[in-house]
Amino acid sequence: LPRVLSLIQPTAQSFHLGNYLGALRQWVPLQDDHDAFYGIADLHALTVEMDPQELHDNTLRGAAQLIAAGVDPERSTLFIQSHVPEHTQLSWVLGCLTGFGQASRMTQFKDKVGKAGTESANVGLFTYPVLMAADILVHQADQVPVGEDQRQHLELTRDLAQRFNARYGETFVVPEPYILKSVGKIQDLQDPTMKMSKTGSSPNGLVELLEDEKKLVKKLKSAVTDSGREIIFDEQAKPGVSNLLTILSAFSGTAIPDLVDQFAGKGYGDLKGAVADAVAGFATPFRERTLELMGERTELQAILARGAARAREVASKSVTEVYAKVGLLPPR
Ligand code: TYM
Repeated sequence: LPRVLSLIQPTAQSFHLGNYLGALRQWVPLQDDHDAFYGIADLHALTVEMDPQELHDNTLRGAAQLIAAGVDPERSTLFIQSHVPEHTQLSWVLGCLTGFGQASRMTQFKDKVGKAGTESANVGLFTYPVLMAADILVHQADQVPVGEDQRQHLELTRDLAQRFNARYGETFVVPEPYILKSVGKIQDLQDPTMKMSKTGSSPNGLVELLEDEKKLVKKLKSAVTDSGREIIFDEQAKPGVSNLLTILSAFSGTAIPDLVDQFAGKGYGDLKGAVADAVAGFATPFRERTLELMGERTELQAILARGAARAREVASKSVTEVYAKVGLLPPR
């Protein structure tokens, strides 16, 4: 079976609608016909200052949310990044193959550093894409289901795989991005020219999946729409309406042109109501299931321990092979 792998950073409160539609939602059906590896990128979360207790809680809640979203630990390898030390071990080797200039061109790094400049950024933020490449390559993933914002990191990953293979002989699978054009970039509800994100969005622009239903519905109903009154899909002229159509289409399974037909003659309020119903229809059982799983911490931790053990079987083979190929003396 071809292998898919994807991780998500643990975050405060919950994952957001962009995470779900852009990535998590694709993870679920991929389990049917792939050997799937999914996990929580807790090491990546250290690139911003984190309260230790909060990171710990966010990690467990993150794992619970993955299961609630449909990741099945019986069929997938579900693990926490830091439980599989081979990721960090490979990361060092890959870092030594990454050009400083190439890493400096990562747009997410530049965005995250922002106006403050590199002087106040930490090195972890800079080498973040190298660790991500290690996550993917150590498991020999064929496909990586992510949102559009990860595309450049995947290009770096492919580049590193090819560079390693060329220098030391065929070792890594060169992974393909699995990015759905339709949902690869879910926009902020208040500023639909910007992607929905934990760091960039205002509270009203961001849909937290674990938010209580009333708040969630209110937020969606107060989404910014565009001037005019026609419901059409035009990302340039009508980014707000287009984003709502994208969200509704994803949840309803109805193609956008058909939605446009259905809403002909109706108003923005009707569209927002339909979107709110669709999102709440997913979020309500999702929230209940997550809370239930959080009440069974021992079982959840047992699931993660099994996942880590399975992941290490694959990852340790890769690291042993890589360390030997680059000439590191084996410890015996
Ligand atoms: P993260 O945790 O920021 O986001 C998790 C996933 O959600 C997607 N995403 C979006 N998709 C559509 N619209 C949006 N507005 C939106 N916002 C976020 C992201 O593209 C991602 O797929 N570096 C990664 C985590 C990572 C990883 C990996 C991913 C670490 N190692 C190995 C794949 C493979 C990240 O920070 O994603």
